[in-house]
Amino acid sequence: MMLGRIQRFLPTALCVFLAAAGALAGQQTAVENPYTSAKDIAAGEQTFRSYCTICHGRTGEGAKGPDLTLGIFRNATSDAAMFSVIRYGIPGTDMPRHYMSDAGIWQVAAYVRSLSARGSTAEVAGDPVAGARIFHEQENCSQCHAVDGRGGRRAPNLTEVGWRRSPDYLRASLVDPNADVPPKWWSLRLIDSDGATVTGWRLNEDTYSVRLLDANDNLRAFEKRDLRELERIETSPMMSYEDMLSEQELDDLVAYLYSLRSNGR
Ligand code: HEC
Ligand code: HEC
Repeated sequence: MMLGRIQRFLPTALCVFLAAAGALAGQQTAVENPYTSAKDIAAGEQTFRSYCTICHGRTGEGAKGPDLTLGIFRNATSDAAMFSVIRYGIPGTDMPRHYMSDAGIWQVAAYVRSLSARGSTAEVAGDPVAGARIFHEQENCSQCHAVDGRGGRRAPNLTEVGWRRSPDYLRASLVDPNADVPPKWWSLRLIDSDGATVTGWRLNEDTYSVRLLDANDNLRAFEKRDLRELERIETSPMMSYEDMLSEQELDDLVAYLYSLRSNGR
């Protein structure tokens, strides 16, 4: 009971705190984390276990989300920025918003900061230069993926993928692309009223209509009631490279992908 009351009071306390900090903004005062005791960090670790390990790994080493143990942050560059990243998420990415008390967010932020001191556990065995050659010359990766403005648009832009994903996740993306395919990358296969089969990248779909981009980059729109068949393909258009590339080549590609952080600070 008591705890609930304290938690209801904290947001108000923080607003006052932030407003005070805002008033000092002219002096460029950064808002610092008020919850950094050993007890706060331990509480933050519990929160991390419940909400964050699924994407950031059991000890923050990264997975679908980035390694948080490196001590370098692209977005969470200050305590205030980390607070807002955790509370509001990072729009347009997999980093979600979290509905927790302010104190809870500060505590998990304190835990995340504490990870930097431990040093990275991510291991990247390959050679990024050899990986770049495989990506751009040996394989057809850039037919679908762009890096630094070069390459296709029918797949995630990989310019900053090293900020987003851990080495293990990147490797899994290469050997098992179907493991985790966001709806944005689904395809459609349909048979129209004339009996012609059309396949392509699913751009939008609502109750009555679908739009897709076919293999020749033509935008095609259909009313669902006119179609003889409509199939949604939720697997990846990317094939598995498991049997196409050697272990060494996969390591090199992962090292190259993990090095892609060009717009980072
Ligand atoms: C569904 C997956 C997912 C969950 C759950 C998740 N994150 Fe993230 N997080 C990401 C991804 C992906 C990014 C990188 C986004 C980008 O910059 O493209 C990220 C970015 C971050 C960053 C910014 C890193 C930087 O370089 O500035 C922090 C800090 C962070 N997450 C902390 C947390 C904490 C703490 C939790 C739990 C309360 C959490 N995340 C839960 C996926 C997730
Ligand atoms: C036919 C088009 C195509 C080709 C060729 C292709 N990919 Fe992909 N790739 C995709 C699509 C679409 C996705 C997103 C769906 C998914 O996760 O499988 C993807 C996902 C990825 C991801 C995960 C990105 C993220 O943000 O999670 C990585 C990494 C990747 N590809 C690397 C490569 C590499 C390296 C090559 C070449 C060896 C390659 N791809 C070749 C279409 C392609």
